[in-house]
Amino acid sequence: MKVTKNIDSYNFGAKIEGIDLSKELSEEQINEIRQAWIENQVVFFPNQKITNEEFARFARYFGDYGEDPYLKAMPEHNHIVEVKRSAKEKTSPFGGTWHSDWSFLKNPPAMTLLYSKIIPPVGGDTLFASTKDACIDLEPSLKDSIKDLSGVHSAMLPYADDGFYATELEDRSMNIVTSKKAKAMQNHPIIKEHNESKLDTLFVNPVYTVGIDSKSDDEAASLLASLYEHILQDKYIYRHKWTEDTLLMWDNRSVMHMAEGGYDGHDRLLHRITIAG
Ligand code: SIN
Repeated sequence: MKVTKNIDSYNFGAKIEGIDLSKELSEEQINEIRQAWIENQVVFFPNQKITNEEFARFARYFGDYGEDPYLKAMPEHNHIVEVKRSAKEKTSPFGGTWHSDWSFLKNPPAMTLLYSKIIPPVGGDTLFASTKDACIDLEPSLKDSIKDLSGVHSAMLPYADDGFYATELEDRSMNIVTSKKAKAMQNHPIIKEHNESKLDTLFVNPVYTVGIDSKSDDEAASLLASLYEHILQDKYIYRHKWTEDTLLMWDNRSVMHMAEGGYDGHDRLLHRITIAG
């Protein structure tokens, strides 16, 4: 197995080759992949021809399936969600604003995996931002001033009955289910220790972090805006340009991500599985 880091000079993310994911893997191979994933935060395996069952078997090497609220799985597999947008669709790309998956849950997923099936000839990249590296570089006095604060997370902005997906459900090919329950709140420390690497991360994101416990809305909005400005500097970003038949997995505890558009008139389809935190 060969791990290539610093692709296109990015500071994180790695390509893994020399392994066939359609085959069962040994414990040694699984451990090696797990280490590479924690260290590099985003890893991808190009040129993998795998079935739904092989994709699911690979994902389950890393834990139990995660909870996937607000998205219906594909009929052929209970735990695979189709991330799709058709050539004729005019909706915003699903996941098109910076977020970490399901951060409004008590236990957000540790890992998300995407397997690319149909990739447009232009656009449709996925961007990742390292909230771990951004946290390491945070100015010490700022870090100290936020170390005891908790972010308030909720699914309300996208998934409530009046949320932004609710307004365009009819026109979307993705199977999204909005709900009143999306207004529930869940607190997480803003500086969250990664439970495997033990490194601190900045656990906030513009889609699901709707406030800061014990701060006014204005104070919270201003602090969050300055944290996002810090995290979204080029040096903390990895841009993934897809090719078909690539399996990519990210550490949802140490990166935010967003899906870019720019491919109107073309189909895009990826299969997605989350693994519980
Ligand atoms: C997501 O946020 O899970 C979607 C990412 C993508 O489609 O690139």
